[in-house]
Amino acid sequence: MEHLINPQVKDIQISGIRKISNLVSTIPGALTLTIGQPDFPTPRHIIEAGQRALDQNKTVYTQNPGLLELREAVSHFVKVKYGQTYSAADEIIVTAGASQAVDITLRTILTPGAEVILPAPIYPGYEPLIRLAGGVPVYVDTRENGLKLTAELLAPYLSDKTRCVILCYPSNPTGQVLSKQELSDLANLLDGRELFVLSDEIYSELVYGETHQSISTIGKMREKTIVINGLSKSHAMTGWRIGFTLAPANITEHMVKVHQYNVTCASSVSQYAALEALTAGIDDALPMRKEYEARRDYVYDRLLAMGFELEKPEGAFYLFPSIAKFGLSSQEFTMRLLQEEHVAVVPGDAFTSYGEGFIRISYAYSQEVLEESLNRVERFISKL
Ligand SMILES: Cc1ncc(COP(=O)(O)O)c(C=O)c1O
Repeated sequence: MEHLINPQVKDIQISGIRKISNLVSTIPGALTLTIGQPDFPTPRHIIEAGQRALDQNKTVYTQNPGLLELREAVSHFVKVKYGQTYSAADEIIVTAGASQAVDITLRTILTPGAEVILPAPIYPGYEPLIRLAGGVPVYVDTRENGLKLTAELLAPYLSDKTRCVILCYPSNPTGQVLSKQELSDLANLLDGRELFVLSDEIYSELVYGETHQSISTIGKMREKTIVINGLSKSHAMTGWRIGFTLAPANITEHMVKVHQYNVTCASSVSQYAALEALTAGIDDALPMRKEYEARRDYVYDRLLAMGFELEKPEGAFYLFPSIAKFGLSSQEFTMRLLQEEHVAVVPGDAFTSYGEGFIRISYAYSQEVLEESLNRVERFISKL
């Protein structure tokens, strides 16, 4: 029966991040800097809110777009943190993680053959969803441009077929952010064009310089932008599966139909925990951010001292150094580092072929793990 499986699904490859994680589990004593989730536990008061919801039998369906109180908390959170104004009543959907938010967005806006422009290297979670929705990914190589999408780089790729531009800043895998000026230049280019912007802001609470800026707050961009965010990274809640979308009512109205027939609603228990996170826990990310920033500085300084070339990341919890000077492909570098020194990092080509020549290092790990792993990386490159 396999020949009857949808070829679009058959063609989906398992992610390069998963491949390396699977391999690590076969090597005893291997250290890994591969993971994309916080190493902090979910704050205790949020866990207790989830437990209370269970004890009080809050275990039934909620409204399709999520509990109204939670949408009100989301609305308040994004207003006070980032100046985004979205109505709880009809412009916010609570989803099963940011992943589902991306999926319902793409399935709402894409038609067969519609092009989606993405700056690359980029998080590998978008392409399969674009293809399943019938769209065509079009990558813009940002490697020669400090790993950032600019208006100048983007302009030649825009055409009548462009339905959506994806922005993922702070970026997974590069940690880069766009300044207000860079976002304004993009907004000037995109203003007046018949397309959507999907702005994935899942790392918005983990920005180390100025506060997070969103293209949705610039000029008239709000009317064509769908913002994706969630609690996985900000509140160390990856397993609770809570994300959300922010979009004008005339777009949300359609997205909510896809959401309804896809999952009905996000988990009720997780929604009560999320309500606690976005009210009493509105600033829970701050101590974690402080710790990540100290680690970012430590790892960045060590890599520079070893002779790696890299852009200083301003957000998320990743560094993306170039390994081009060592004369190995990112696969060869990663495999040899794992086999010879028992340290796992993610090969850059896991983030599209435009990530070739780089590796991704996550610093969502304790100082001890980072220190020992970097000692091993140092030993490894000294032998190359
Ligand atoms: C850029 C980006 N978007 C979305 C996601 C998915 O987030 P969630 O776990 O909330 O589905 C991730 C997870 O790593 C990510 O890095």
